[in-house]
Amino acid sequence: MSASIVVGAQWGDEGKGKLVDVLASKADLVVRFQGGANAGHTLVVNGVKTILHLIPSGILHPNTLCMITSGVVLDVFGVLDEIEKLKAQGLMKKAENFLISDNCSLLMPYHKILDVARESHLNKEKIGTTGKGIGPAYEDRTSRRGLIFSDLFQPATLKEKLERALQEKNVLFEKIYGQKAFETTELVEKLLQAAEKLAPHRCQDTSHLILKAIKGGKKVLFEGAQGTLLDIHHGTYPYVTSSPTISSSALTSTGIGPQNIKQVIGVFKAYATRVGSGPFPTELLDTTGEFLRSVGKEFGSTTGRPRRCGWLDLVALKYAIRLNGITSLAMMKLDVLSGLDRLQICTGYKINGTVVTEWPSTLNELEGAEPVLTELPGWKEDLTKINQLNELPRPVNQYLDFISDFVKTPIDVISVGPGREQTLWVKPLFNT
Ligand code: GDP
Ligand code: IMO
Ligand code: MG
Repeated sequence: MSASIVVGAQWGDEGKGKLVDVLASKADLVVRFQGGANAGHTLVVNGVKTILHLIPSGILHPNTLCMITSGVVLDVFGVLDEIEKLKAQGLMKKAENFLISDNCSLLMPYHKILDVARESHLNKEKIGTTGKGIGPAYEDRTSRRGLIFSDLFQPATLKEKLERALQEKNVLFEKIYGQKAFETTELVEKLLQAAEKLAPHRCQDTSHLILKAIKGGKKVLFEGAQGTLLDIHHGTYPYVTSSPTISSSALTSTGIGPQNIKQVIGVFKAYATRVGSGPFPTELLDTTGEFLRSVGKEFGSTTGRPRRCGWLDLVALKYAIRLNGITSLAMMKLDVLSGLDRLQICTGYKINGTVVTEWPSTLNELEGAEPVLTELPGWKEDLTKINQLNELPRPVNQYLDFISDFVKTPIDVISVGPGREQTLWVKPLFNT
């Protein structure tokens, strides 16, 4: 049995894509289980950058099967674009290397329009969504009005369901958002053309296939998108995404039982970032924040927006470890901290004059939380060329030890640059 789940332990963009790409050299199967094209996962191989939104980050490995399961909202035209881009790079040579579950939700152009229209009608309550239609697509799934992948292959059903899905939305578009009603004829036509192209990727029972792989001793990796603090149930609601992002989501989305999971790897940055609105207790609105943004190239891979930057927050990390059952941590972007004289780490929050060390349960408390910071020495050395753990400068080890001692979880992987080779292993993961 060898299934592992990779999740983001902060607010997304932790470097999950890089880690999954590195681990996928040993994986037989990589499965994307939630989110949609709001994700932007950047992989850098031999200096060449690939940004993936929907296709799992195992796709650069020709012998790894990649799969999208039920919990994902699939942008039909977006995924086709991604496939074409990969093919143009000489990748994804065999269609059967990328499978889509018949049961996964379809994200339609009208979901994106609704997402953008809603955000533009909000003032200070804006979520700062990616505008990729994620909220509206999940709403349709939950309200049982959504279309699923198998509908693409049944023209009559497709048309009928589309008309039903648009009934209410067209009223919203016309009466509230001052937009034209959505016409189905042209959309059905385009969807049927897309269906022809996507047919070779169709998979009727991904749950069965995944379980067979696990039972057959194959290595299976579940790739999370977004991050724990953006989880619809446990994140900084309502400033969250619309899907469950934590490890248990991998089970619900794929239809796999919990006994099949061997480890949960939590990916986190050596500092913290967030895109969009919502509380961020350790945010730095000063030159150190600017330093992290410019050295860390903290601009969104999906929207290009500047990411908010701040110190590493161990209260939040402890919370993420608890929610996900994280067994190993992977620390990314440690190289970015080189050059700072002193580092700060958040170990508690002062809320209404009282210091707490557990994640607060209300948004109000979180918004009023003042970080309690511990100072540690920084380092000047460039870490990007280091390929042995014993070459890490002393203050780096001090930083790493402080974190793993505080959160009582081992840091098993350390990333010191975007490239595959810039990865240091404290303990080999995903080997057996
Ligand atoms: P994801 O959404 O979690 O996959 O993360 P993103 O790809 O959106 O953002 C992470 C960014 O950091 C990407 O541009 C990566 O190429 C880059 N990256 C990943 N690991 C490292 C690292 O250790 N050091 C540096 N400097 N960049 C990294
Ligand atoms: P990856 O997989 C960082 C954020 C948006 C916004 C909120 C809701 O690359 O880590 P949505 O479009 O999902 O309705 O937006 O969630 N968000 C992300 N932030 N990384 C992501 O994905 C994100 N996906 C959504 O910025 O605050
Ligand atoms: Mg990202």
